[in-house]
Amino acid sequence: MKILLLGKNGQVGWELQRSLAPLGELLALDSRSADYCGDLADLEGLAGTLARYAPDVVVNAAAYTAVDKAESEPLLAQRVNAEALRVMAEFAVRSDALLVHYSTDYVFPGHGQTPWREVDDVAPLNVYGQSKLAGEQAIQATGCQHLIFRTSWVYAARGSNFARTMLRLAKERDALGVIDDQFGAPTGAELIADVTAHAILATRRDPALVGLYHLAAGGETSWCGYARFVLEQAAAAGVELKVTAEAVNALDTDAYPLPAKRPANSRLNTEKLQKAFSLNLPDWQLGVARMLKEIIEKQ
Ligand SMILES: NC(=O)c1ccc[n+]([C@@H]2O[C@H](COP(=O)([O-])OP(=O)(O)OC[C@H]3O[C@@H](n4cnc5c(N)ncnc54)[C@H](OP(=O)(O)O)[C@@H]3O)[C@@H](O)[C@H]2O)c1
Repeated sequence: MKILLLGKNGQVGWELQRSLAPLGELLALDSRSADYCGDLADLEGLAGTLARYAPDVVVNAAAYTAVDKAESEPLLAQRVNAEALRVMAEFAVRSDALLVHYSTDYVFPGHGQTPWREVDDVAPLNVYGQSKLAGEQAIQATGCQHLIFRTSWVYAARGSNFARTMLRLAKERDALGVIDDQFGAPTGAELIADVTAHAILATRRDPALVGLYHLAAGGETSWCGYARFVLEQAAAAGVELKVTAEAVNALDTDAYPLPAKRPANSRLNTEKLQKAFSLNLPDWQLGVARMLKEIIEKQ
């Protein structure tokens, strides 16, 4: 099986380099790759890469993910998050290839408290969400074989992440306030990459499994709950903090205005995925605790 991975250096892309490697011949690209074009903003270059490498499976982990910047760069967000997906999907139709793609909880309007199902109505609140939804629709419109995984609140041990920022701020500052009225499940890039590899194999065996799935860790929290968990774990591991978990102030979204509006309810119902692929998605605390251990041990 020939696999093309796009966006190899993002949070999810990095973990996919590991989880996809045993599945077959893997070509992993980023936007700066030299031999093959891996830039999703270059639609002709992308089409050329697909035609030349002729993969059986295309896994797209590349995306325009700068949520606030997208408000002032809607055309670039649309090109990378939607038009490039049309190019990939058209290739997948022509070549009978499987296209694997990631989307977001930001396709939903964010009201209520019920975890969103795949069949629920979408209504993105910001440009990024609109561009990601357009990407989903571009794939579905072609009728190509696809797996689209909508995920939420992605973190990885590598690079900057929310947990690392909270640790730094809790060491430097005397007080810390974190938003407490947006809810979701922090989901590890490792988990997403492992589920992806499993789902590709299962879909190759049973093509009826293609479709749209919600993929997030179990349970739920707010950003404030997430921050408190991080600081509790760090304190238990002996890290010296100026702000303790109990001292973190719970803020409303209004207290922290940003260019792009965020959904308050980012909970995703993952029953469809767990049932279809016989998987159990562990609670978010498990992956966050592992990631923290890695971060703290390296400090
Ligand atoms: N992060 C989240 O909380 C979250 C939540 C829900 C869904 N998702 C979705 O999950 C997927 C993976 O997200 P992630 O967290 O791994 O994102 P990420 O860490 O921001 O990685 C995205 C990657 O895309 C690359 N990229 C950006 N523009 C590109 C272009 N024109 N051509 C090629 N590559 C380009 C970036 O490379 P450069 O940095 O070199 O530009 C980066 O390596 C995305 O589809 C995202 O929409 C993410």
